[in-house]
Amino acid sequence: MKALRVGVIGYGYWGPNLARNFNELSASDLVAIADRKDEQLERARTKYPDILLTKDYKEFFNMGLDAVIISTPPKTHHPIAKDCLSHNMHVLIEKPMTLNSQDAEELIELAKAKGLTLMVGHIFEYNSAVMEMKKYIDSKELGDVFYIDTARLNLGLFQRDSNVLWDLAPHDISTLLYLLEQTPVSVSAHGMACVTEGIHDVAYLNLVFSNNLMAYIHVSWLDPSKVRRITVVGSKKMAVYNDLGAEGKIKIYDKGVDPEYTDTFGEFQYAYRAGDIIIPSFRFVEPLREECQHFLDCIVNHSEPRSSGLDGLRVTKILEAAERSMKNGSTREVIQW
Ligand SMILES: NC(=O)c1ccc[n+]([C@@H]2O[C@H](COP(=O)([O-])OP(=O)(O)OC[C@H]3O[C@@H](n4cnc5c(N)ncnc54)[C@H](O)[C@@H]3O)[C@@H](O)[C@H]2O)c1
Repeated sequence: MKALRVGVIGYGYWGPNLARNFNELSASDLVAIADRKDEQLERARTKYPDILLTKDYKEFFNMGLDAVIISTPPKTHHPIAKDCLSHNMHVLIEKPMTLNSQDAEELIELAKAKGLTLMVGHIFEYNSAVMEMKKYIDSKELGDVFYIDTARLNLGLFQRDSNVLWDLAPHDISTLLYLLEQTPVSVSAHGMACVTEGIHDVAYLNLVFSNNLMAYIHVSWLDPSKVRRITVVGSKKMAVYNDLGAEGKIKIYDKGVDPEYTDTFGEFQYAYRAGDIIIPSFRFVEPLREECQHFLDCIVNHSEPRSSGLDGLRVTKILEAAERSMKNGSTREVIQW
């Protein structure tokens, strides 16, 4: 099978990781990198002296490229992706896919009309620990899921043209949609702009799914500790994914509480259950490697990516509704699907 010719647009903080993976994977050849800044191109030159390095990604259009990877600031995602799809290239676009749902819809339509693969870099959908967690939910080993709580906190990285909601919450929202295989009915959000006026650096979201299942997302650029945690509380067991966990990223707690009736007058006491804690072992592959390989597989097999354009649109719609809520005093916003 001929390797796919790939170009990366945007070689700032994240682009080098994408470039490295597409350079190393046997199913792709990294043939070009575009970045507007000289210093980034110089950085790229030390690693990839023999490929095209340009300030203008439009040079890609005459190179017979199969696919592009867009790793530029979010506000540029839509125009660049539209341009590349129009020039018949498959597109992997970083999160958040776009800054509004109309733009996301336009990209989906364009990719469909052209028969091209459009994928969004929802990296946690390719994270072995999250995939393992999903097995525990799907098999019902945790019982019915009551609620999920996620925390993604650290000091920084502060962004200038994006708030913490659009920067970090796409990770948690896409993870929730993947784990639960359903979209929320409504969302409410509360945020604070502590450091820069008008740019929220802390946000709390509440998502309501059908069957009263709730999810809580806490994202922050203003926290003393780095936290990357997802807690799933089920009727039978509880699971915690801690990305920074020293002894294992996932722990399954055989913990719970049941009301226990003591007499015929309806009185009861709580029976607490605290059984074993299991740390499942599984092979952990670099999530970005999985994501990049999946993109190439989808192009070759003409299959729909796990984190498709539609997945990106869903995340964008939830973010839009959360932003509305945050601006309107934490109103509960029903999401129109
Ligand atoms: N999946 C992840 O875990 C993850 C992590 C970090 C960032 N990201 C995403 O990656 C994207 C890039 O983030 P970053 O932190 O690398 O940003 P960054 O600002 O460090 O880098 C962006 C680069 O794009 C370049 N650029 C801007 N407009 C361009 C254009 N028209 N043509 C060519 N180059 C252009 C800039 O010069 C800059 O070097 C964002 O969408 C971000 O949300 C994803």
